[in-house]
Order: sequence, then C-alpha cells, then structure tokens
Amino acid sequence: MEQFMIKPSIYKYETCKAFAEEFKLGKGDLVITNAYIYEPAFGSLNLECDVIYQEKYGAGEPSDDMAEAIYRDIQGTPKRIIAVGGGTVIDISKLFALKYVSPVLDLYDGKLPIEKDKTLVLVPTTCGTGSEVTNIAILALNSRGTKKGLAAPEMYADAAVLIPELLNGLPFKFFATSSIDALIHAIESSLSPKGNGYTRMFGYKAIEMILKGYIKIRDHGPEARHELLADFLIASNYAGIAFGNAGCAAVHALSYPLGATHHVAHGEANYALFTGVMKNYMELKTDGEIAILNEFMAGILGCDTSQVYEALEALLGVLLPKKPLRQYGVTPRELEEFTRSVMENQGRLMANNFVALDKDRVYKIYSELY
Ligand SMILES: NC(=O)c1ccc[n+]([C@@H]2O[C@H](COP(=O)([O-])OP(=O)(O)OC[C@H]3O[C@@H](n4cnc5c(N)ncnc54)[C@H](O)[C@@H]3O)[C@@H](O)[C@H]2O)c1
Ligand SMILES: [Fe+2]
Repeated sequence: MEQFMIKPSIYKYETCKAFAEEFKLGKGDLVITNAYIYEPAFGSLNLECDVIYQEKYGAGEPSDDMAEAIYRDIQGTPKRIIAVGGGTVIDISKLFALKYVSPVLDLYDGKLPIEKDKTLVLVPTTCGTGSEVTNIAILALNSRGTKKGLAAPEMYADAAVLIPELLNGLPFKFFATSSIDALIHAIESSLSPKGNGYTRMFGYKAIEMILKGYIKIRDHGPEARHELLADFLIASNYAGIAFGNAGCAAVHALSYPLGATHHVAHGEANYALFTGVMKNYMELKTDGEIAILNEFMAGILGCDTSQVYEALEALLGVLLPKKPLRQYGVTPRELEEFTRSVMENQGRLMANNFVALDKDRVYKIYSELY
C-alpha cells in the first residue's frame, strides 16, 4: 500500500520578481489571478503573459458555472497555466491544465477523460487550502446545491511556489478562515484511517505552527500575524501534504452543503462544524489517535486534556466568532436535506472518518450545532 507522495516540486522565493525571473514568465503563459493581487505584485514587471482576472466571473468560491465561463474566454492553447491566488483561483486553474474541460459537470461526473496537456504552476496567496500540493479541485455544483471534489493524479501541479510577501495584503478575515481550514486539514488527516507516520509528521507540525501562531495573535493582536505569514504559508503547505495523502473527513463533508447553499466561506463553514464533529467522535471512541492528538494539542494550549476542545474553541473564537447554523440562514428542514446530501454525495470524505458516522449521527451533529 502506498504510504506517501509529494508530487509537485516546491519552491520558495523572497520576491515575486525573483520567481518571475527564475520561471521566465512570459509569452505562452496564462496567469489566472485577481487584479488586486497581481497588479501590485507583478504589474511593474511588465510580463508578456496573458492574464485572466477571476473576479470578473463572479464573487465567492468557484462553481461549475464560473469555470465554464472562464474556460470560454481562454484564447489559444497556453503552454503553462500559472495560478496566483487563494484556493478559489487555484482550484479553478487546475481544471485548465487538462485537455478536456467542458462540460464541467460531465468532467465532475467522470464522463470526460482526464488528460493533462499543460504545465501547471500554483502560487497560493492565502494560508489555508494547501491546494498547491493536492490533486483535488473543489467546485460548487450550482445545479446540485453541494460542493464536489474532483481528484486525479493528472491534477497535481508541476510546481508549487511559496512567496510569503504575496500574503501581506490578505485581509484578517481571510487570514483567519483560510488558516482554520489548514488546521482542520491537519487534524482530519491525522485522525484518518489512511494517516500514517509520514502524513502525521507534516500534520502534527502544521497543528503546532498554527496553534502557536494563534496564541501570539491572541496575546498581541491581529497585526502580530504579519511577521508570522511565512510560518502560516508553510504550515498550510504541510497540512496540504498531510491531507493530500491521508484525506479529509466529516468536518469537510458536513461543511459542503452549508458552504454551497448559504455561500459561507470554506474555512468558516468548516469552523462551524469542527468541534461538533470532534465531540461526537469522542462520544464514540476516546482512545487511539484522538487521545494522542488531544494530548498534543492540550500541551500547546496549556490546558487539561479533558478541556482541549473548549480551549481550542476559545482560541479560535479570538479569530472568528463561531455562529450557530441558524445564523447562516439554515432552516430545520435543511438539516435533513444536508444529512441526505452528505450520505449521498460525500462518500469519498466520509470513508476517512476517525469512527464511522451514520445518518442518525450526522443529523445529530447538525442538530446540535443548529
Ligand atoms: N483543492 C484543495 O485541496 C482544497 C482544499 C481546501 C479548500 N479548497 C477550496 O479553496 C477555496 C477557498 O480558498 P481560500 O480559503 O484560499 O479563499 P479564497 O481563494 O476564496 O480567497 C478568499 C478571498 O480573499 C481574497 N484573497 C486571496 N488572497 C489574497 C491576498 N493575498 N490579498 C488580498 N486578497 C486576497 C480572494 O480574492 C477572495 O476574495 C474553496 O473553494 C475550497 O473549497 C480546496
Ligand atoms: Fe479545506
């Protein structure tokens, strides 16, 4: 059984200029990005790349409709796809390195062959998804009211490029939601039955870096994050390596209907479900990896192991207020629909749960968080 793989080569640069020079960015390259990220960072370099600004195709996280509209606007056949942005830009860009993209819904239903015919370079500008090192692209399927991940070896990037200075302009809210996403990647993958010594080496290190960073922010205020951005970018990359191998699980699975139906940012939707799922795991099984994880986190948080989720919630609450599901506009009827959607559509993730969660348990988790 395969234990571990990191596919893209990982690069790190102090400046965007150094990256542009070493990668010889220019003709034949299509950069997919946002104007407010690209122009201050790359504008003065006068590169000859084609550039597409994702925000022209709609606000919020990526959907099949957004991917379809961008795909229609791609001119010619670029040699390289260079994504510079958050998980939204990166996930959507992964599709465009493929030979057959449209209809996107068919691609997600496995009706199109998955063949890569362009070089893919991914440059994250949030500290969350780790998508630069995973082979998954997650889209909201608008007609189906849920999110779905397309995962295939062909979707790995050729290069993942870390440039901490790109995160300087990241607003605190997105710093918070994206880094909580990374923390959850590290936690879910460490608890996954597919986790092993290799994935946990990356996962536990990411947990430590993120929680220690949060403690500094709690003690010194949001501005303290600026000197920690390189650490957070690396931690999210480690977490991506961990979950790219061991998978995410119920927190992500249960967050997808919430994110897709009520347009809640991915990290925030995960956060809304996170401790609810963990507490239910603990009702079912208190030994094994979860005991090791709880002790590890309690050591960093300086609390008793029995209080670890309360302490974690208090720390995360400094970054982002935790809201009950009803405050996102969820209705009691939707709790049943969400449950059905998870059981029908999220088998890939639910297979990685620390302990199996059945339909009743999923409904119970949603109800407790309502
Ligand atoms: N493929 C994977 O492995 C994977 C894993 C987790 C999440 N995801 C997906 O990633 C998406 C979420 O990505 P995200 O959390 O990175 O958020 P995001 O890409 O949606 O970005 C959030 C907001 O911040 C802005 N932004 C990003 N970087 C910025 C910067 N440096 N300066 C100023 N503004 C900036 C974006 O334009 C956007 O408005 C979701 O669609 C989620 O499903 C994918
Ligand atoms: Fe995630």
